[in-house]
Amino acid sequence: MITRDEALAIVHEFVQSPSLRRHMYAVEAAMRFYARQFGEDEEKWGITGLLHDFDWEIHPNLDDHPIKGAAILRERGVPEEIVRAILTHAPERTGLRPQTRLEKALRACDEITGLITAVALVRPSKSLYDLKVKSVKKKWKDKAFAAGVDRQDIEEAVAEFGVDLWEHVGNVIEAMRGIAPELGLDGSRAQKSDA
Ligand SMILES: [Fe+2]
Ligand SMILES: [Fe+2]
Repeated sequence: MITRDEALAIVHEFVQSPSLRRHMYAVEAAMRFYARQFGEDEEKWGITGLLHDFDWEIHPNLDDHPIKGAAILRERGVPEEIVRAILTHAPERTGLRPQTRLEKALRACDEITGLITAVALVRPSKSLYDLKVKSVKKKWKDKAFAAGVDRQDIEEAVAEFGVDLWEHVGNVIEAMRGIAPELGLDGSRAQKSDA
């Protein structure tokens, strides 16, 4: 098993974009939330979330991500269970469907963090602290908003994970709130744009 610090070093080495780093921190937080809820290995689940898109900048196309990244992770000594989970977050490209609870959790937590971030950022507070599930619900139906987020894909992933969709949204908001400053979603960006 690798440590969280080792995983973070891989992220820092391969990912320069602040928004991509934040995406992975958000998925890590959501994975940790569910690991605690299910009594699973929180470090393993968190590290899986933290690493899942580490190769996006060096493999910025869907033919290579995450397949080529998996080889790098294996070289770095990342356990096969985590590598396989990362491969299953893109089943349409890797041919590997999520089977374990860890794998289903990753797929369920991935895209939803992006939608939650987008909803938080269009609100005046630009904060997760006062973000409610109903705000996400409203934007869920607005297909022009964050049009790149495939709602149907999320619905399928969350159903497979076995959690109610809106309960899941509430859980992921709560998880992301725990690291709101690191995500830049603690309201600090609202203050800047008012200045
Ligand atoms: Fe990805
Ligand atoms: Fe992702």
